[in-house]
Parts: sequence; C-alpha cells; structure tokens
Amino acid sequence: QTVDWDASAAGKAGHDHYMHKEIHEQPTALRQAISGRVDDLAGNASLNIDLDDGFLQTIDEIHIAACGTSYHAGLYAKELIEPLVDISVRVDLASEYEVYDGHNTQDTLVVAVTQSGETADTLSAIRRAKASGMTTFAVTNTVGSTITREVDDSLFIKAGPEIGVAATKTFVSQVTALALFATYLGRLRGTISADEGADILEDIRQLPSAVQAILDEEAQIRRLAAQYSDSKAFFFIGRGLAQPVALESALKLKEISYAHAEGFAAGELKHGPLALVTENTPVLAFLNQSAAPEETRNNVKEVESRGAPVIGLATDGADESFCKHTIDIPELGRLEPLVANVALQLFAYHVANEMGRPIDKPRNLAKSVTVG
Ligand code: G6P
Repeated sequence: QTVDWDASAAGKAGHDHYMHKEIHEQPTALRQAISGRVDDLAGNASLNIDLDDGFLQTIDEIHIAACGTSYHAGLYAKELIEPLVDISVRVDLASEYEVYDGHNTQDTLVVAVTQSGETADTLSAIRRAKASGMTTFAVTNTVGSTITREVDDSLFIKAGPEIGVAATKTFVSQVTALALFATYLGRLRGTISADEGADILEDIRQLPSAVQAILDEEAQIRRLAAQYSDSKAFFFIGRGLAQPVALESALKLKEISYAHAEGFAAGELKHGPLALVTENTPVLAFLNQSAAPEETRNNVKEVESRGAPVIGLATDGADESFCKHTIDIPELGRLEPLVANVALQLFAYHVANEMGRPIDKPRNLAKSVTVG
C-alpha cells in the first residue's frame, strides 16, 4: 500500500495555509525569542550584544530603518524605547532613509529591522549609514543573511522559517526582541530600575500565553470575518502603541485579501479619513488603556454615529460603548496592542479565505524584495 505524499501539505502540518500555521506557531516562536534572554535577578534582558556598553550608554539618538511589516515593528519599538530609555528614536522607511550633513553620526545607533536580512532598500539604508560613519545593528530572523555580514552587530528574533508572504510570527517576534533591547538599554542607562525591568520582563514572559488566549478565540474572529468580508473598505484605528498595530493590521488585510484597508492614528480620523466612513466600512478600533482611552472612545463614537459597525479590541473594564462587537484582549501593559495584533492577523486570514484568495502567495508580492 502506498500513501500519497505532498511536500507542501506536509509542510503545512494540517493547516490549509502556511500563514495559518505560522499564526498558530506564535506562542512557540515567542518562547524561542525569549528563552535564555531574561535575567530575573538583575531585572534585565540578557542579549549577548557585542556593541560596546560604553557606546550604548552615550548615544543620543537611535535611527530605525525598515520596510513593510518590519517598519511597523520599528514604529512599535519607538513607542517602547522613547519613554523607557529617554532617547529620541527616528523611524524611517528604508527607501527614504537619508543622513543629513551636520548630523551627529558618532552618537547615533542605526538599527535595521528586517525579517529576511536581504531587503534591498534596507541594505542600502544601512550602507548609507555606514558610509556616514555610524554604528549599525540589525534585528533579523535570518542567521548568515547579507545584513548580518554588513552591520556591526545583530540580534536574532529566532522565529523559525516563515513561508507565507504575509509576515505574522516574525512581526510579533521582532517587537518582542526590540522590547528586550529596550529593557537592556534602559537598565544600562539607568532609566529603568531593576524592579521596573522585572515588571517589563514579566509582561514579555506572559506574551506566549496571552497570544494563545487570542488563538483560542479564533471561532469568534472567523465569524466576524465572514460577516464583514464583503465590506467596501476596512479601517483600523489606534493610539500610542496601538497606532503601528493599526497600520500593520491594515497592511495584512490588504496584502492577502486585496480589500481596501487603511490604518490611522485614532485622533487623525477627523482630519480627513472620516469622509470615507459609511455603514459599509467596518472600523476595527484598539481600545488600549495605555493611551487616552476616553479620546479613542470619542473617535469610536464619531464613526458609530455615521453608521459604521465598530469592532473593538478591548481588555476587561475598557469602555466598549459604541462598539457593535468586541474581541477580548488579555491585559498585558505595553504589549497589549501586540497581542491584539494577533486577533487581526486571524481576521485578515479569514476575510481572505472567505474571498478565496491565494493567501500564501498574494499577487504581485514577494516574501523578500531584493531589488531597490
Ligand atoms: C516584502 C514582504 C513584506 C515584508 C517586507 C520587508 O515586501 O512582502 O511582508 O514586510 O518585504 O521584509 P524584511 O525581510 O526586510 O522584513
């Protein structure tokens, strides 16, 4: 007797798509990213960074250059690092990154965030930074990639291979690695006490189970996706740490479903995008408690009064008035929006699946873009 064997189906381990498999791999990917990197006694991250501690203590600016989903991880990192480390962080799309004459290059660290380590625009940004004499650092998933050979030092996110074109597990692992890096920098520079460091690390340690709690809610998210899959457009709004996640969630949905989707800072809605809101444009709103929740609630009210169905992503106790539906998000401090992102990965996946899209290989897109 013979058994038909299909390499691709075997690789998907029972899932219909690699993307679905990779979404479900996130608790494991996160454990790998965190394992061995938490020093409880010191309330610090232990990252084996080769960059000189003296240099990291004296830098006065961080530049982050990245593309696509990695750019959104960079934006999340800015929201984490600036308040925790009290240093200014500039985040640029790698294709737009320039070093201006007169910039204090000696006291700047340039960080490339890139899953593949092969993205041409990101490599070229790093080459411009190096040519200006700046110290460079990569946060990447790929050991031995081109970027790791060009930068001064690398931090690996250890997410394991990602096959689906839409980045999922690598996004959460990038942000997690950057949160560890933020903790390390803050401890080194004295802006984070050992107790605060221990609190942040405890949240990081809770991430895998918080993400699992979202994965356990997949049936509800799938129903919402089926209910709204024929909408005219989808809007995602968030504040503070949730703003980059709003951008990322919109990117995920447009990449794999081809639906019109946009992410906005919640407060910016009234400055233009509100004109697009109708009863046929679901608005997915992050009601994270960490950033002016009453103001976000007012933004939700504005769209609801124009007839838009609002799907709120909320922790217990958040004000859910004006939301038509709510997806429960576990409380996790600064990492809560990252966990909420997983719910919207599933939402994007199920909308695209309802529409019969080729989820792992969306038209016109490549996993890694090696031309500029
Ligand atoms: C491509 C992929 C995106 C990815 C971007 C950056 O456009 O389709 O999913 O976010 O490249 O890739 P990187 O490997 O540098 O993170």
